[in-house]
Amino acid sequence: MDQEQLKQRIKQLVAEKNALLMAHNYQRDEVQEIADITGDSLALSMEAARTDKDVIVFCGVHFMAESAAILAPEKTVLLPRVDAGCPMADMVTAEQLRAFKAEHPGATVVTYVNSTAAVKAESDICCTSSNAVNVARSLEAKKLLLVPDRNLGRYIAKQVPEKECVCWEGYCPTHDRLKVEEIEKARAEHPDALFMAHPECTPEILELADHICSTSGMYEFAKSNPAQKFIVGTEQGILWRLKKENPEKEFILPSRALICPNMKLTSLEDILSCLETMEPRITVDEETREKAKLTLDRMLAVPRD
Ligand code: 13P
Ligand code: SF4
Repeated sequence: MDQEQLKQRIKQLVAEKNALLMAHNYQRDEVQEIADITGDSLALSMEAARTDKDVIVFCGVHFMAESAAILAPEKTVLLPRVDAGCPMADMVTAEQLRAFKAEHPGATVVTYVNSTAAVKAESDICCTSSNAVNVARSLEAKKLLLVPDRNLGRYIAKQVPEKECVCWEGYCPTHDRLKVEEIEKARAEHPDALFMAHPECTPEILELADHICSTSGMYEFAKSNPAQKFIVGTEQGILWRLKKENPEKEFILPSRALICPNMKLTSLEDILSCLETMEPRITVDEETREKAKLTLDRMLAVPRD
């Protein structure tokens, strides 16, 4: 089958199975192109909870499909590539988190959605890159444990100096690779460009940013800002929609290393196969799911900006 035939067959099966095809902003271009909805982790989780479709095909990484399964247990959640994990999510286990909590009794645990269901279940509240600061500010606690991303954690800590923050030492290998010299070089070559960065980048990179936001925040910033050029401090997949929505603007990826191999695993063939077989299906055991859902519900109840 060529690409067009593949896409047609996928569309047919999506309709037949009453499915919703979701793609994270880092997915391959052709996957984003065929998706019913694209978005950041927060938007996709919320849509999964809201949709009246029977089946969710989640083109992203494991923790994202797991969040959909936590929020929408009555739906069939499919992850076309079961091996598409997030290395950062695997940098803390529930057992390690229990030990961390024991070292800091009384602290409130704020866990980035890039985490397993078991880790969420051990937490007090979740956050995403788009609401992390709001979530931290909304809490009465004076001491926060920020898990698992040390970069997002240090970013939050800077925004809420009134709280004591202790960060877990996890990180995103893709964002952590971005170097200060690469930004300086891009800035020197494009002095009129604004630099937008994802909070998973290191503090040294964030120091250089004109705007720090989630992946979807970048679409809003690029569209609403009159600047014509943007240096993009996040994964390469975001370029497809940035360029599509702003054909007159220029987007510069400052490093060739900004590719998440896990996000790039899912192909059209994988999507077709998962719709044909209704596998691999992502489920979460009920006890873990209920506890993890509480942490996501608390996050969703925090007012947005
Ligand atoms: P967003 O929540 O901004 O989509 O980020 C998810 C992610 O995995 C970033 O690496
Ligand atoms: Fe995980 Fe980083 Fe890939 Fe996002 S870009 S899924 S945080 S490894």
